[in-house]
Amino acid sequence: MADNQRGFSSSIGAILAAAGGAVGLGNVWRFPYMLGNNGGGAFLTIYIVFVILIGIPLMMTEFVIGRRSQSNVVGAYRKLGGRHKGWVSLGILGIVAALLIYAFYSVVAGWTLNYIVLSSSGQTSGLLPHEVATVFKDFSQGSLWPLVYQFIFLALTALVVTMGVQKGIEKVSKVLMPLLFILLLVMCVRSLSLDGAAKGLEFLFKPDFSKMTGKGVLEALGQSFFSLSLGMGAMVTYGSYIRKEDKLLKTSTWIAVCDSMVAILAGIVIFPAVFAFGMDPASGPELVYIVLPNVFNSMPMGNIFAIVFFVLLGIAALTSTISLLEILVAFAVEELHWKRGVASAVSSAVVFAIGAFCALSFGPLKEATIFGKTLFDLFDMLTASYIMPIGALLMTIFLGWFYPKAEVRDEITNGGTLKARLFGAYYFLIRYIAPVALIIIIIYGIIG
Ligand code: PFF
Repeated sequence: MADNQRGFSSSIGAILAAAGGAVGLGNVWRFPYMLGNNGGGAFLTIYIVFVILIGIPLMMTEFVIGRRSQSNVVGAYRKLGGRHKGWVSLGILGIVAALLIYAFYSVVAGWTLNYIVLSSSGQTSGLLPHEVATVFKDFSQGSLWPLVYQFIFLALTALVVTMGVQKGIEKVSKVLMPLLFILLLVMCVRSLSLDGAAKGLEFLFKPDFSKMTGKGVLEALGQSFFSLSLGMGAMVTYGSYIRKEDKLLKTSTWIAVCDSMVAILAGIVIFPAVFAFGMDPASGPELVYIVLPNVFNSMPMGNIFAIVFFVLLGIAALTSTISLLEILVAFAVEELHWKRGVASAVSSAVVFAIGAFCALSFGPLKEATIFGKTLFDLFDMLTASYIMPIGALLMTIFLGWFYPKAEVRDEITNGGTLKARLFGAYYFLIRYIAPVALIIIIIYGIIG
């Protein structure tokens, strides 16, 4: 039981904490608008195929790397890579990805706080649709409040992470994750009872592959990575906290199921409501911040549901920002020998310094584009569509081709105590299928 000192205290704690890292704005904010932009059900179908064929095996891969090395993402490759020091750069890529994601993610997390305040003080209720849009634009394009809320969110996250893996992360996840599910179910019942809900369900579940493009396929892959926090080391870090006696296949499967369920439930909340009130499902990142407040305004007791929804979004975001910060903190504590509190304060400050530019991407820095994209959009696209798939590709090469097979088997079977019935299939997937699929999709995405 000595392992428990380092990480999570129980398997349910590990599942809830890692599922908390996975379930986030990616499920409730990003997934619905990606799906809306890519024609609905076809996107969902491809997304689920990616989760099963690539997502779960890759999560296991990250868990193996983390648990085997008992290290943060950089230390993991330093230890397991042996004299091949080049692998450490894969760990550093993970740190860079965590910084970039946290920088733009904390902006949207901050918006959520603003909407909790607005909806609980009734400031969005009773407005006309164009007024709701104006509220969002005035807020997100401002140069003060987005920064203030982003800062508050970063500070809140830093507080939890400073308290430690068991006393902070695990404890908070055990309370917030069940709460998130309950709130989501309440919202589902509300949305499904609206007149015209069926159209939204049809959009979500009925695949129309004629709407699918190469870019859409890459976006589905990127979304599955983003949503499961794969390809950059979040799950390596959390994997290092999983107890040696826990089953990695079971843990990964549970996390993937929770994550996909939340994404689908979020779709069930959002699309019936969007269709019932004649809004546009393809309205992009603003979907939940402009379209939904309008939807809430047009339903009885909408204001209560608005509060519930944004609290839910805030909870989902918090457990994810915790996992993002933990990647950086574990690195700083173990590799740079900083104290946990210092590591979390300094990392958060660095993220704020970069993230502030993302927050201002909607207003003062709207015109400051690189490759035609604002910094916010650039970080989002760069991480989900490129760094995560490329990071994932390198990870599969590391574990499938470089690291000894016997060691991988030993870690997955908990030192030979578990039956390894699916090991052959897993190894085949990460050695051949995943890398080939990843290469094709990355190239297709670049030229397509
Ligand atoms: N998986 C999170 C979400 O879907 O919102 C986002 C995320 C968190 C990505 C942590 C990467 C990460 F390391």
